[in-house]
Amino acid sequence: ADIDWSADAAEKGGYEHYMLKEIFEQPEAIRNATRGRIDADQGTAVLSGLALSPRELVDFHRLLIVGCGTSLNAGLVGEYAVEDFAAMLGEVEQAAEFRYRNPIVGSKDLVVAISQSGETADTLAAVREAINKGAMVAGLVNVVGSTIAREAGRGIYLHAGPEISVASTKAFTCQVSVLLSIALKLARGRRMSLEEGQRIANEILRVPDLVQQVLEKNDEIAKVAENFVKFDNMFYIGRGYMFPVALEGALKIKEISYIHAEAYNAAELKHGPIALLEENMPVVALMNKGPGKEKTVGNVEECRARKAPVLGVITEGDDEAREACDWVIEIPECPHYTATIVATTALQLFSYHVARLRGCPIDQPRNLAKSVTVE
Ligand code: G6P
Repeated sequence: ADIDWSADAAEKGGYEHYMLKEIFEQPEAIRNATRGRIDADQGTAVLSGLALSPRELVDFHRLLIVGCGTSLNAGLVGEYAVEDFAAMLGEVEQAAEFRYRNPIVGSKDLVVAISQSGETADTLAAVREAINKGAMVAGLVNVVGSTIAREAGRGIYLHAGPEISVASTKAFTCQVSVLLSIALKLARGRRMSLEEGQRIANEILRVPDLVQQVLEKNDEIAKVAENFVKFDNMFYIGRGYMFPVALEGALKIKEISYIHAEAYNAAELKHGPIALLEENMPVVALMNKGPGKEKTVGNVEECRARKAPVLGVITEGDDEAREACDWVIEIPECPHYTATIVATTALQLFSYHVARLRGCPIDQPRNLAKSVTVE
């Protein structure tokens, strides 16, 4: 075979696209994002960049997360985790909405601005707005020295390494890893027991290996993707923690394969979207084991009764879920909060292969920019 000696090929480390390279970098990127930040003995997170005293940590009434695009989807996992772990009010808001709708925010809020680039105009404006309203603001940023990192004044760097592909992959999984760490820290500063904290800390530490197991299914996922090349529309459904995964899955397939995709809470299917179900409307269902799984299996049966083909993301060895679907991608068993990362990795690979088979310009989709620095 011909060997491509060009600088471009060298930078992609032998991968056909930056996106694939960055998907495969995730175990290492997540290790870097969590290194020194998870204290499994104490069952908590060490986040010195937040620079918050224990007193300040317990005084917050709300964790308010702002961001755009993939960073916004990661933020929704953060909202769910802070409510789930810390019994503290969590909220996520699209940064432009936050900036323009005169939001209620003040000194009892910890505002976390999520941005891979640290340069997104709307997220930066939200940071300024939150600072002016007296909130404590922290950046969750990948690019060191970027504007949001500097203006927020405090924060946590992702350490995901450079992300070149326009469609974000490793930034998302690292953002979620750090958001779970923030939620754990807030929880342990409040009422969570040592044992519960240790359990969650150890689950976070398992994530790089679980992601690695998904990457090993790349060939199988590529085979499944062949069935989707012909479609123009898709639905993604999930419940609870798996709903943000549906959002991110649908965003990824839109961005790189140009298939129109919408994500819904699985329970919302009945309230309109079900009217569109037929043989040309495939559904990707997040039905891995965890709260709400049985109900999502029920939704999948409703989809198939209307001839919509279903791809299920299921837990390895779950025959009940497998039988409900036309195709499956299996992921290793883990709690839903970390399954957000593991299942998203599977859907990144799925989107990648659909786009590749459709001949799309994966690293630079039409009309998209890596960082949106204008409104
Ligand atoms: C653009 C990119 C997306 C990204 C979003 C937010 O739309 O194409 O991939 O998620 O901006 O970017 P940020 O750098 O703020 O995370």
